[in-house]
Amino acid sequence: MSQRDEIRIRIAARADLSAIAPLARAAFTLDAFSDALLAEKLFDAPLPDAELWQTYLAERDGRPIGFMQSVVRRGNPKGWVGLFAVDAGARRQGIARRLFENTRAAWPSRITSAEILALPGNYFAPGLDPRYTSGLSFVEALGFTRGRDCVNLSCKLWREFDTAAEESRLAAAGIEIRRADCRSDGPLLDAFFASDFGADWRFEAEQALRQSPEALHLALRPIDGTTRIVAFSAHGTQNREWGFFGPMGTTPAARGLGLGRVLLWRCLNDMRAAGHASSVIPWVGPIRFYHDACGAVVERVFWRYQMDLVR
Ligand SMILES: CC(C)(COP(=O)(O)OP(=O)(O)OC[C@H]1O[C@@H](n2cnc3c(N)ncnc32)[C@H](O)[C@@H]1OP(=O)(O)O)[C@@H](O)C(=O)NCCC(=O)NCCS
Repeated sequence: MSQRDEIRIRIAARADLSAIAPLARAAFTLDAFSDALLAEKLFDAPLPDAELWQTYLAERDGRPIGFMQSVVRRGNPKGWVGLFAVDAGARRQGIARRLFENTRAAWPSRITSAEILALPGNYFAPGLDPRYTSGLSFVEALGFTRGRDCVNLSCKLWREFDTAAEESRLAAAGIEIRRADCRSDGPLLDAFFASDFGADWRFEAEQALRQSPEALHLALRPIDGTTRIVAFSAHGTQNREWGFFGPMGTTPAARGLGLGRVLLWRCLNDMRAAGHASSVIPWVGPIRFYHDACGAVVERVFWRYQMDLVR
C-alpha cells in the first residue's frame, strides 16, 4: 500500500479538538493557541451565514497528521481556507495538497475565488504571517497570489485613559457615551448595523454584548427626536485571551467629533481592568488614528493571498 492509500481524510468533529490542538500548537510557533481559542476558530463560533464551516482532518493509520479549515458563506462567491497545518514528520508528502483538494471539491460551483485566513467575523489573522514560510510556500505552490499587506497594531496598557473630560465635552454637545446594555440595546443595535456597517459587525457586537460586563461601548445622540447610535467600539469579540480590540465604527455624519478616540479608550480601559498588559488592534485600517489616540505601534504584518478558481 502506498503512503497516499493509508491516508484518510474526514470532516472533524468537535471531539477531535484534542487531536487537532497538539498539531496546531506544534505548527503555529508564532501564536499561543489554547484549546478554547482553537475551538472558537474551528467549531464554536461559526458565522451566522456559514454554509460550510468545516475542518478536514487527515489521519494515517488512525493517527492525526494534518488539518485544514474550510468556510463558505451563503450567497458568497468566495471560499476561505482557514487554519491549516501538517505534522512536521508528515510534511512534503502531499498531505496539505490533498486537504485542499478535499476542501475545494466540497465547495459549491458558484465559488469562483479562494482566500487564505482573513475570515471576517471570526478570524485568527487578517492574512498569512510571512514568517510562516512553509505556509506561504505551500499556498503559492497551489496558485494563490499575494495581494495587499495588512497589519495588527499593539497597544501597551501601561495606564488607564481618562475619558471624563472628553465625555463631558461630548455630553455638552448632546452626545451620550455609555456601555451597551445587553437587556435593552438589542433593537437599537439592530437598527444601527442595518443602516451602517452590516451583519458581520452586528455579529461581533452580539459576541461583545454577551460578555460581563458588556464589552461594547456606544455613542448616542437624538436624531429627529429619536435616540440613535452614531458610533460604537467593542473588544474581545474573538481571540479574547489575546486581548483583541474591535471592531469600531463611527457613522460618516458623526466623524471628526472625537467619538472614536473616547470609545477606543473605554475598551482599552476594560482590557486593562481584565488584566491585559497590551491589546492587539487587528486588521487596521487607520494606523495614524490609533498611533495618535493610544500610542499603538505596528506589531505584525500579514500578506493577503487569493486565487481565482477556474472550474
Ligand atoms: C504549510 C504546511 C501545511 C504544508 O503541508 P505539507 O503537507 O507539507 O504540504 P504538501 O506536501 O501538500 O506540499 C504541496 C506543495 O507545496 C509546496 N511546499 C509545501 N511546503 C513547502 C516548504 N516547506 N518549502 C517549499 N515549498 C513547500 C511544494 O511545492 C509542495 O509540493 P512538492 O513537495 O511536490 O514540491 C506545513 O508545512 C505546515 O504545517 N506548516 C506550518 C503551519 C503553517 O504555516 N500554516 C499556515 C498558517 S495557518
